[in-house]
Amino acid sequence: MIGRTRWHFPEVDSTQTVAFRLAEQGAAHGTVVRADFQTAGRGRQGRKWISDRSSALMFSVILRTHESVDRIGHFSLVLADAVAEVVRNSIDSPVHVKWPNDILIDGKKSVGILVQTRTGSETVIVAGIGINVAAMASDQLPDATSLNANAKSPVDPDSLFETILKRIEAGWNTLDASLDSETLDRLNEHLWLKGCGITLLDGDREIRGRVLEVASNGGLRMEIAGKEQIVMVGEITRGPRPIDDGIVNR
Ligand code: BTN
Repeated sequence: MIGRTRWHFPEVDSTQTVAFRLAEQGAAHGTVVRADFQTAGRGRQGRKWISDRSSALMFSVILRTHESVDRIGHFSLVLADAVAEVVRNSIDSPVHVKWPNDILIDGKKSVGILVQTRTGSETVIVAGIGINVAAMASDQLPDATSLNANAKSPVDPDSLFETILKRIEAGWNTLDASLDSETLDRLNEHLWLKGCGITLLDGDREIRGRVLEVASNGGLRMEIAGKEQIVMVGEITRGPRPIDDGIVNR
């Protein structure tokens, strides 16, 4: 069960690092590591995740499976949908999922999800979630916000935490070879930049095209140079932008 074993630290380097260390020492599936402050919070693509002390809900969940990573690659979208849904129910502003697993509130960042995997005799997944609950100094930046800035009354991080753990548990227990129709419909209803021209970066490749929808395998269905293609990896770096389709090697 997710959250049966919990650690809550006032300060760590990164809950991801602590969770992987605990997993190496045999921590059970579902163990959760939460911290009030991180000195070296990790983001995707080697970026840093910075939150003020006690202003964010930050935790990592250890998941163990014998499924191959390929079969469960869409789990990060299940996670994004679960977190987005809980956030949506806590605030008054629109909440979108930016493929593959970013969550935007009114178009601004306040939630980060980092899914890291290590394979051995079994696969260990550490799913890290950071949610800026209270206002922070960085909220002054034009593309950042917090939950409280979008809610009528302050959001309680502890009940947010409990609700998200329950949703993650449900998402994990029903995880199948592809996204279920309910999750897929919800993801597509709230898909950021749906129908818009975007630039997606995949290593050295720049993919320019139009976002169509999330596919059931978790990829992003796009129209690229007049053809439909499902993109499995990448990061949306620009959008909306004029449609000048194509794949450019940089
Ligand atoms: C991103 O948007 O780039 C992902 C950010 C993920 C941040 C969370 S906070 C809890 C967990 N511990 C970390 O060091 N990172 C994740």
